[in-house]
Amino acid sequence: MNDLDSLLAAAESDFAAAQQGAELENAKARYLGRTGHLTELLKGLGALPPEEKKTRGAEINQAKAGIEALLTAARERLSRAELETQLRAEALDVTLPGRQRGMGGLHPVSRTIERIEAIFASMGFDVAEGPEIETDWMSFTALNNPENHPARSMQDTFYVDMKDAEGRWLNLRPHTSPMQVRYARMHAARYADEVSQGRQMPEVRVIAPGRVYRVDSDATHSPMFHQIEGLWLGENVSFKDLKVTFSAFVREFFETDDFDVRFRPSFFPFTEPSAEIDIRFGSGPLAGRWLEVAGSGQVHPNVVRSYNLDPETAIGFAFGMGADRMAMLRYGIDDLRLMFDGDLRFLSQFQ
Ligand code: PHE
Repeated sequence: MNDLDSLLAAAESDFAAAQQGAELENAKARYLGRTGHLTELLKGLGALPPEEKKTRGAEINQAKAGIEALLTAARERLSRAELETQLRAEALDVTLPGRQRGMGGLHPVSRTIERIEAIFASMGFDVAEGPEIETDWMSFTALNNPENHPARSMQDTFYVDMKDAEGRWLNLRPHTSPMQVRYARMHAARYADEVSQGRQMPEVRVIAPGRVYRVDSDATHSPMFHQIEGLWLGENVSFKDLKVTFSAFVREFFETDDFDVRFRPSFFPFTEPSAEIDIRFGSGPLAGRWLEVAGSGQVHPNVVRSYNLDPETAIGFAFGMGADRMAMLRYGIDDLRLMFDGDLRFLSQFQ
């Protein structure tokens, strides 16, 4: 083996040993670089006699070409290896099952509200929704709620530090009763032409479910809870109609005839007379206890005026029912806070 053959053999094993591009390029420099072995050999040619210089020069160049070919092969090997490592690292296991999206479901309060909507819809009630940020006028004034009424105080109502375009303070509605006013005014406007032509205005029959807010928080009170407002206004819709309607609702909702309904005298500025509605089951886990479920009464004439209607011809009742309370009674839940904690162990039981 002459010196050039062994140089070639050394280059081959050096190149083969390189595991990374940088190592290979260092090895290349040792042979082909400015001070590399081949460059040194070429420099040495000058000292040889002309005949020898020619053959030796050709041999060296051949060896150089050989080393360059080895280098190209080594570079290809490294880039292939690099690609393979990358492919392996980024490999997709197409046999893995996909990640499943958890199946969502309706919250027990949403279910309850839907159920209540369906029952009242079957009795001819419309369903209406309205804003949770209300004006002072809608929340109180229009509902015959005098300026100094305690419900207006900061202890009960969350105020929004902002006024509407007409300079009225805004609040988070403390009850759904503003929806009586909004809906009845809309109804009055819709049928104004027909009424002025002497035709009878259709009855107002609506329920309005939604979130309400009060400064209150313990096992039975949450600063946010749900109410369902009801309003039935006609030529002469009476307290008797309220009793019949509400009892029919309770029968449907709890799927039982075994209960009593009691109208307990109470006070609300927007109704006269006013009553709390209590129910008592004759059997089941809640049997024997009076349970308060709604406030109610005949709509006050001043409130009918806020509706833009005439209290002589538009007469009826309103009620405001606690939706969370209805859900708790139906499902046998004793702590209101469970409803709003968002704990899936609790919520998934209702799916
Ligand atoms: N708005 C009353 C409350 O939140 C309930 C109610 C509504 C009472 C309608 C009478 C008529 O307590």
